[in-house]
Amino acid sequence: MDQDGPETEVGLAEFMERPLGPWGVLQIAAGTGLSVYAVWAGVLMPGFRRVPLKLQVPYLPASRTQVRNVMALLKGRSGGFVDLGSGDGRIVLQAHSHGFHPAVGYELNPWLLRLSRFNAWRAGHYGQVSYLKKDLWKVSLADCKNVSVFLAPSVLPLLQVKLVAELPDGAVVIAGRFPFPDWTPCKVEGEGVDQAWAYYIQAQRGGPERGGSGGGRAPDTHSGPHPAGGPLLLRVVSKLQ
Ligand SMILES: C[S@@+](CC[C@H](N)C(=O)[O-])C[C@H]1O[C@@H](n2cnc3c(N)ncnc32)[C@H](O)[C@@H]1O
Repeated sequence: MDQDGPETEVGLAEFMERPLGPWGVLQIAAGTGLSVYAVWAGVLMPGFRRVPLKLQVPYLPASRTQVRNVMALLKGRSGGFVDLGSGDGRIVLQAHSHGFHPAVGYELNPWLLRLSRFNAWRAGHYGQVSYLKKDLWKVSLADCKNVSVFLAPSVLPLLQVKLVAELPDGAVVIAGRFPFPDWTPCKVEGEGVDQAWAYYIQAQRGGPERGGSGGGRAPDTHSGPHPAGGPLLLRVVSKLQ
């Protein structure tokens, strides 16, 4: 077997002592950048390749109190429920337990989707809730009566546009941790990081508010919901790409 002789040791010592130089610095920077990107794309944000960077929101689970606040704001309502960016599916599961049907979560991260289905199975609700691998910016919300979102403040202005364009009159949106910047909530629950805000979509369109169940529709005060995206949102998202 080859043994490292004194020549090899001298070579290594020379290499270690040699100044890095611009090329070396560039190589280290590129290597570090690649590693960071690999962790971001492969571990933290898998499934987000097609989502513009500015719209990528990492996973952070809602606290128990936050989930309780979301459910408190939905009290008295019924019908379908959607969590936009459902993470490990905890809010969808709670909505199902509170009688919302269908209860659906849209999520892009395949690991979180697996975890959601496992959690549903563990809670005895497998097959009764849906976790779908869909980009929340591309799904149509035209049939959603009860919507919850816990996303980064940076994407909320754009999400306002999508929600106003697509949701039916009578829909209620609950925002967890971060409120919508330009909307007026009809109710607020909790405080600090667990706070949640409820909004009647019709009030954000300038129409009359509607309480009660998520069933029926109030008289139309706008031209009706658009299919996924709506023209304005599609223009904005395509500019980000
Ligand atoms: C802050 S976490 C909230 C998770 C969950 N709603 C909760 O409250 O525990 C945001 C989630 O949205 C997901 N997400 C972000 N952008 C998305 C997109 N364009 N389509 C689907 N899911 C998305 C992320 O993967 C992440 O799991």
